[in-house]
Amino acid sequence: MLSLLVILLSLSLATSATHQESFVKCLNLNSDRTFPFNSLIYTPNNPSFSSVLDSSGQNKRLLEPSAPKPKFIFTPTRDSHVQAAVICSKQLGIYFTVLSGGHDFEGVSYVSETESLFIVIDLIKLREIKIDIESNTAWVQAGATNGELYYRISEKSSVHGFPAGVCTSLGLGGHITGGAYGTMVRKYGLAVDNVLDAKIVDAEGRILDREAMGEDLFWAIRGGGGGSFGILLWWKIKLVPVPSTVTVFTVNKTLEQGATKLLQRWQEVAPYVDDNLFIRIIIQRTQRTVTTSYNALFLGEAKSLLGIMKKSFPELGLTRKDCLETSWIKSVLYFAGFPSGTNPQVLLGKSLMKTFFKGKSDFVREPIPETGLEGLWKRVVAEDNPLILWSPYGGRMEQFSESDTPFPYRKGTRFISLYLSFWQDGDKNVAKHIDWIRNVHNYMAPYVSSFPRGQYVNYRDLDLGVNTKNSTSYIEASVWGYRYFKNNYDRLVKIKTKVDPQNVFRHEQSIPPLPV
Ligand SMILES: Cc1cc2nc3c(=O)[nH]c(=O)nc-3n(C[C@H](O)[C@H](O)[C@H](O)COP(=O)(O)OP(=O)(O)OC[C@H]3O[C@@H](n4cnc5c(N)ncnc54)[C@H](O)[C@@H]3O)c2cc1C
Ligand SMILES: *[C@@H]1O[C@H](CO)[C@@H](O)[C@H](O)[C@H]1NC(C)=O
Ligand SMILES: *[C@@H]1O[C@H](CO)[C@@H](O)[C@H](O)[C@H]1NC(C)=O
Repeated sequence: MLSLLVILLSLSLATSATHQESFVKCLNLNSDRTFPFNSLIYTPNNPSFSSVLDSSGQNKRLLEPSAPKPKFIFTPTRDSHVQAAVICSKQLGIYFTVLSGGHDFEGVSYVSETESLFIVIDLIKLREIKIDIESNTAWVQAGATNGELYYRISEKSSVHGFPAGVCTSLGLGGHITGGAYGTMVRKYGLAVDNVLDAKIVDAEGRILDREAMGEDLFWAIRGGGGGSFGILLWWKIKLVPVPSTVTVFTVNKTLEQGATKLLQRWQEVAPYVDDNLFIRIIIQRTQRTVTTSYNALFLGEAKSLLGIMKKSFPELGLTRKDCLETSWIKSVLYFAGFPSGTNPQVLLGKSLMKTFFKGKSDFVREPIPETGLEGLWKRVVAEDNPLILWSPYGGRMEQFSESDTPFPYRKGTRFISLYLSFWQDGDKNVAKHIDWIRNVHNYMAPYVSSFPRGQYVNYRDLDLGVNTKNSTSYIEASVWGYRYFKNNYDRLVKIKTKVDPQNVFRHEQSIPPLPV
């Protein structure tokens, strides 16, 4: 019995060693010069394996010891290494996932529930950022974070910025491919609306820029979600102007302070007010009540902000004392939750928040009535650590049609709603937290977009379904495909079929090709 175990164990060690060996051998054959590739590979036997995986993956729910682990992690240091990795994985029949910042809600960048053997191509070492203030552009590598990008822009100029996500540890590879919105969404739209060019590795291992890939594929990678069309290496982005002084504020209202009535007003005002003003709502449970925080960025000085508020939203009762005038880069730190006085260099470091979580999203077109909100409060106070974020759209977002980019929730969308539940290590009620999210989401159905009920691909939700390996996968996938992309799903499938008919780039919710 024991000897059988030993044999089995050494067999499995032998196969993983063989996978690594053949992979490295193939990488060398596909490189213009030999390279110590073994130094870029972390197998489970390597003492750094867990720390590399844990520092790349961001949802502890998918990093539990029981979660499937890759055979190894490959951390390329050059673009050509990524090309070779695609060619070699194909040749050796090894399935890979692609990871930039590791924030995927369901961890599909570092866990596979459907493939028995997988490796991770982790772009953590590809994080160059080249800012060119003269031309208002930058080339940024996929493994860099949005926080690093913001910091590098601010090093060069205090009147330039970029409209991507609020949390500052998001990988530009995964983040921008799904659309990407933040505090300047009303003024400048999504990050994808400010992309000029890109470089990707395609299914043949070629590097293609915008001209070489053509407008269809260039359309697909700007919102069609990560991991379907190629490996993003670089984005060329357009920097946007920001004033040297911006104003931020956070004003809290509990239920006892009339939060429900005020939120009625917010839903009417926030999507239509001056484009320079973004007021999001953070809904949390505080003891037995609910606190709604009005968390805002104004691209301008406090004086003009107070004028706008007096005219458009006097009900909030904003005063000068609530307002903090600061620089754009410090507003980034403020929104990301860093304590005041934090040096912006913190953006070059690791992520702030790493917990166990599950999330879902909605797009809201009509104001949610008071009775709807009251039912939501009952649910919020029943969960340990819920967080609901409402971010207003409108402004620039109104100027796009549904099909301009794969992200369809533009004109007529008042706000995006994100529901999260967090928990800690050792929590015995994981199933309860996940049920809570599902229940809240069910409860919200009458108040949000429908036919299809929208969700944001960057807030991935595997409850909507996962790809199967059978030939009608594209039909099954249309369930979540229409929810993330509406009718753009059909065009995405067509493009996928053309550029990656063998489905080299795939995961639980990648766009499937049509059968050949
Ligand atoms: C705490 C937190 C805060 C967030 N805040 C915001 C926000 O403010 N605004 C917003 O819009 N979104 C936000 N998101 C969602 C975020 O945009 C997505 O999770 C995004 O996919 C993260 O990209 P990543 O590179 O960090 O993740 P990864 O997990 O590395 O990748 C996500 C997906 O993209 C694929 N992918 C990764 N790299 C590449 C690449 N180079 N080429 C092709 N495909 C790739 C992966 O395979 C995976 O399918 C937040 C998420 C979290 C966890
Ligand atoms: C608002 O409420 C939140 C949640 O309770 C709390 O963390 C924050 O400090 C409060 N902010 C202000 C300005 O009162
Ligand atoms: C493909 O798989 C899905 C999910 O398992 C199943 O519902 C569907 O019937 C299958 N289709 C075929 C043609 O086998």
